[in-house]
Amino acid sequence: MDFQLSDEQQMMQTVAREFAQREVAPIAAEFDASGEFPFETIRKAGELGFMGVEVPPEYGGAGLDAISYVLMLEEIAAADAAHATIMSVNNSLYCGGILQFGTEEQKQKFVRPVASGQAIGAYALTEPQSGSDAASMRTRAALAADGTHYVINGKKSWITSGPVADYMLLFAVTDPEKRSRGISAFIIDCREPGLVRGKTEPKLGIRASATCEIELVDYRCPVEHRLGREGEGFAIAMQVLDAGRIGIAAQAVGIARAAYEASLAYAKERKAFGAPIGSFQMIQQKLADMKCRLDAARLLTWRAAWLREQAKRDGRRYTLEGSIAKLTASETAMFCAHAAVQIHAGMGYSKELPVERYFRDAKITEIYEGTSEIQRLVIARQETGLR
Ligand code: CAA
Repeated sequence: MDFQLSDEQQMMQTVAREFAQREVAPIAAEFDASGEFPFETIRKAGELGFMGVEVPPEYGGAGLDAISYVLMLEEIAAADAAHATIMSVNNSLYCGGILQFGTEEQKQKFVRPVASGQAIGAYALTEPQSGSDAASMRTRAALAADGTHYVINGKKSWITSGPVADYMLLFAVTDPEKRSRGISAFIIDCREPGLVRGKTEPKLGIRASATCEIELVDYRCPVEHRLGREGEGFAIAMQVLDAGRIGIAAQAVGIARAAYEASLAYAKERKAFGAPIGSFQMIQQKLADMKCRLDAARLLTWRAAWLREQAKRDGRRYTLEGSIAKLTASETAMFCAHAAVQIHAGMGYSKELPVERYFRDAKITEIYEGTSEIQRLVIARQETGLR
């Protein structure tokens, strides 16, 4: 057991912190207000390797480990959760999926542009009528008579980065008789005809990360762009989400940390009844509870990331630990953001400080990449072995 980060991990944490505080934190409020996609900072982050942290250099990435990834994501999220969402989807859901299941040609063609920050990736699983019950999707991919391509029709919803994505990992039914075993995965080039983007969703939080519905109308996907074999799509989607959930845990830790650090500083500076409010036991209790939950969430996130790193060598599963980290960290982000608003009182409710943004941004971490209810279901199924 060693809690000491390696020199490289510490260096990447510092690089990410400096970048986040210099480039991201100063624009976060403005982009939150406008809901505009932060192309410029995402491009700069991409040049530094932030969009393909675990992607080997031969595919355009930084070639770092899973621990470095969560450290860097925490730093970005502590400055702005919306940037962290874009980073997490590019890294875990898009690049991670193709890296793990793609052919050499698919990795060269589809990972490189996203990992190097020149293009944006997305992940299309959810549909208007299927969120938590992902296997009940209706989007249909039918193999053409000549066997060269699939024709895809259907609607995907809540697609993070959907309005701006260049490429997308998409899941569709190839054999309706087989439910989850009849789903396949496809790499979609969003610039090809047949992909229609809906309006950008107006959201409570992570407002600068654009989200929309995607409709596929007779979209022609070449057979060589199918990821994995026919029928393997659902298992691929779930394994990609195992990794994605660790990223969301890191994002939640970043939001929780920002809320805690703001509260700590405010508790020392704000005076009431002739003393800093941090000297009052009711504020101390809040700070102590925030700190305990924050440390616990971060350690669970690091454990899950460590297991993911081992899995690259021995193929072990980390479904359980990823869900534990995501559940704990997202509820910690909500807890800390809620306490931070209360500690700041009127100022916590004001848009003059970022605390109200942490509160709005924290909520999504309990919803996307599997709600807290789904994480509990996954944890209980893993523990009991029952379905
Ligand atoms: N790894 C490998 N295989 C897995 C797996 C995993 N983590 N989870 C399930 N599978 C396999 C099962 O072993 C099973 O295989 P067999 O058919 O060979 O037995 C198959 O997949 C079906 O599994 P289940 O019977 O458990 O499937 P289910 O229908 O009961 O659903 C679920 C399970 C956990 C509820 C799943 O549907 C789920 O995770 N739902 C939540 C979906 C989700 O997280 N959506 C988020 C959308 S993405 C998003 O938010 C992205 C964004 O833009 C930010």
